[in-house]
Amino acid sequence: MQVINTIAALQTALQSAKPAVVGLVPTMGALHEGHLSLIKKCTSMCDICVASVFVNPTQFNDKGDLERYPRTPEADCKLLEEAGCNIVFMPSVEEMYPEPDTRTFELGPVSEVMEGKYRPGHFNGVAQIVSKLFYAVQPDKAFFGEKDFQQIAVIRSMVKLLNINVEIIACPIIREKSGLAKSSRNTLLTDEQRKKAAKISKVLSKSCTFAKSHSVKRTIDWVAAQLDEEPFKLDYYEIVDGITLQPVSKWSQSDSIVGCIAIYCGQIRLIDNIRYK
Ligand code: PAJ
Repeated sequence: MQVINTIAALQTALQSAKPAVVGLVPTMGALHEGHLSLIKKCTSMCDICVASVFVNPTQFNDKGDLERYPRTPEADCKLLEEAGCNIVFMPSVEEMYPEPDTRTFELGPVSEVMEGKYRPGHFNGVAQIVSKLFYAVQPDKAFFGEKDFQQIAVIRSMVKLLNINVEIIACPIIREKSGLAKSSRNTLLTDEQRKKAAKISKVLSKSCTFAKSHSVKRTIDWVAAQLDEEPFKLDYYEIVDGITLQPVSKWSQSDSIVGCIAIYCGQIRLIDNIRYK
């Protein structure tokens, strides 16, 4: 596995590999099995697997969150090598942003709800870095996890907006034994909080049964009520169309319906989602 820090060196390495099928797995590091599942999917579908590890400052709307974000570059390289990754791209902030990125993307209604509303500027920052990575790597396929369900929709919208020729592959959520969705931020939870955080996915999964005999609104209220206790503080629970990400009011309204949650567990903001149909 090659570890590369500059776009120029990355492009030289990729040029010698063409016409191979190139896959890209963008990450912010502090890698866990969720990320590694994307690497495995990528290596199974592509000739060359490129993983990027870059904590992107422009997508953090909370400075404390950026400072707290875990950074484990050596462990990341080891895990990536073991997972069969060919190239890891670990640029500096100056390499990715030689000048401030002033671009504002109009990514449509999928970017305006939920995370778009609660983390203003977040998706614009994601679009800035992912577009730069797509320009740098020119991947045939790029792999993203459904843990960040809305992020995939936003990236698909960006790819259309910019006419980028890349296939976006969505990969399923990987969970801890307790059900908690794996996340780099889980390492910031205390042992006590981590145990309690398992309740989030349990409530989501039980809500599927509840939903069979209750309205969308009652289901939303039920989920909120179950998690209305210490150390939780709910940002939102929304039940949305799986494609447009707009709220639905009836179960019959769409063939694809997903519940998306953002919730604080102490200081740490966690997200998860569940498919109703
Ligand atoms: P990061 O949070 O590091 O996640 C990188 C990729 O791993 C994302 O596509 C995310 O959805 C996926 N992922 C994380 N946890 C997962 C899990 N438990 N199961 C399956 N997939 C999981 O998402 C980002 O970084 C950034 O926004 C990025 C796209 C890299 C742009 O900076």
